[in-house]
Amino acid sequence: MKLNERLSVVASFVEEKRSIIDVGCDHAFLSIYLQENKHPKKVVASDNKEGPLAIAKENIKKAKLEDKIKVTLADGIKDMDSDIDTIIISGMGGRNMVGICKYESQKMKQIQTIILSPNNDVDVVRKEFCKMGFHIDKESLVEYKNVIYPVIRFQKGRKHYTKEDYLLGPILRKEKGKLFLELNNNEVKQKELLLKVLPKGYWRRKWEIKRELKIRKSI
Ligand SMILES: C[S@@+](CC[C@H](N)C(=O)[O-])C[C@H]1O[C@@H](n2cnc3c(N)ncnc32)[C@H](O)[C@@H]1O
Repeated sequence: MKLNERLSVVASFVEEKRSIIDVGCDHAFLSIYLQENKHPKKVVASDNKEGPLAIAKENIKKAKLEDKIKVTLADGIKDMDSDIDTIIISGMGGRNMVGICKYESQKMKQIQTIILSPNNDVDVVRKEFCKMGFHIDKESLVEYKNVIYPVIRFQKGRKHYTKEDYLLGPILRKEKGKLFLELNNNEVKQKELLLKVLPKGYWRRKWEIKRELKIRKSI
């Protein structure tokens, strides 16, 4: 199984011998790759829609992994098996990822590692998953189809972070790589534009944007 650039980075964050659930598996390419390459104890490919799951099942059959990958129709982690220790969610909105895990605190107790690649709201993702009792031990940015996406790995255990860490990434802001600087410049341009077009009444949103711009311009 050959993965696209984004899923390749996600897969590279997965540790060996884990029991993994790939939430929102869609085509199940990632689940298949992990089963073939990461010596997992278990892989569950899960989605909340019948259409993607039918395609997932077909791909798993083609890869001859029907007896190795469990496929489930489920909303988030609601029906997650009790032996799963790693959650992967890629290619969804950040707030959806938070919603999937935040209200399942009992199920989250068994989780050691979470790997996320949100499409947006990455600051909210960092903050909310840290509030759930995790810290960030690995972060990267990947360009896929002209969009820069974050990939973040959380491990169980708390750490202290600043608002700069949540906004920019505690590891990314130290490394200051090429994609990080490019993403930051794009965000500055976008937020400056937004400030200009926001109607007068939006004082709170404007205050938030100005605060964000101050951090982003200090890099
Ligand atoms: C854009 S695809 C991403 C596929 C793959 N994970 C990737 O990164 O390429 C998002 C998938 O998440 C599924 N999804 C959205 N919300 C979900 C939820 N609450 N529980 C399970 N799956 C969900 C959608 O049905 C869709 O198949």
